[in-house]
Amino acid sequence: MNDPTHLETLADEILLTIRRRPGRAQSVSALSRRFKVSAQDIADALGIITAWGYRLKTTRQEATFLEAPDLLTSTEIGYKLKTKTIGQTIHAYHSVKSTNDIAAQLAASGAPEGTIVTAEIQTKGRGRLSRSWHSPPHAGIYVSIILRPTFPAERAPGMSIMTALALADTIESYCPDRTGIKWPNDILISGRKVAGILTELTAEGRRIEYVIIGVGINVNHRADDFPLELRSIATSVRRVTRHKQSRVELLKQFLVRLEKEYTRYQKRGLSTSRTRMRWYSSLIGNRVKLAHGRKIIDGVALDIGADGSLILETQQGTISVSSGEVTVVKT
Ligand code: BTN
Repeated sequence: MNDPTHLETLADEILLTIRRRPGRAQSVSALSRRFKVSAQDIADALGIITAWGYRLKTTRQEATFLEAPDLLTSTEIGYKLKTKTIGQTIHAYHSVKSTNDIAAQLAASGAPEGTIVTAEIQTKGRGRLSRSWHSPPHAGIYVSIILRPTFPAERAPGMSIMTALALADTIESYCPDRTGIKWPNDILISGRKVAGILTELTAEGRRIEYVIIGVGINVNHRADDFPLELRSIATSVRRVTRHKQSRVELLKQFLVRLEKEYTRYQKRGLSTSRTRMRWYSSLIGNRVKLAHGRKIIDGVALDIGADGSLILETQQGTISVSSGEVTVVKT
């Protein structure tokens, strides 16, 4: 077989077959009978699989699947992904400026709900409030999800909060009792930021065309993967658990949780999530300053409302705010 495309297709099919029984040798002659190709073709295809980063043990007679690489490829993300919509179409890039920008272009040209865009590197990762998002290669997860909700645009802000809940549940499963949400949508482990969300909405009047949910998660960063100014305020799952984690697994867990959360949000808003919003809140009981446009509001964070708003006790009385940037005032 000389055609490289055919060989890659064959490699894909062999990969699917041999990874079903990891650690168990499978005979090259059985594979060549099964795929109706020569033993040489099987050897060439196994070479391609190895070049993709998979760990195999191969001899002339046998091939054993050992391990998949922790790369955010569409094959790895899509492998046994238990969702119906989110992640069923995957655009996986090596390097992009910002996955949110690519997702917006795809959405504008009709990409279906649930399409995701991932990258190993972002050269201009964007954060909220025109900040940048530090996106070193192969350490983090940089993903943007296209959603096309049919509810009106005024319900869009809650989507960041539902995403924060899905993210917090995911991170909590790695770091029990240490995960928090700094309202509205920063995820913290023991007070340091581990993940952030940038939600961008395109609407015509009240009708939502699409929402791009951009999520950055610090997974396998070591301390020196962060620039100096972030080192004391940011962390990663690896720094806390002291183990390198599979980014592919973490992303898949998050996508499954996000789909659940989104279904719930479409049916019931945030009303049934109030206990979890309170449980994760890193603000309740603290003195805070809230920057809301040009206004700075001083107060004590009392609660999270059923609609996801932050309830503050101020000198002017109790108020409820739906957006803003909060800083905890150390007393
Ligand atoms: C924040 O906390 O300020 C939000 C950070 C959001 C970063 C993610 S990484 C994937 C997606 N692409 C971007 O350019 N930004 C978001």
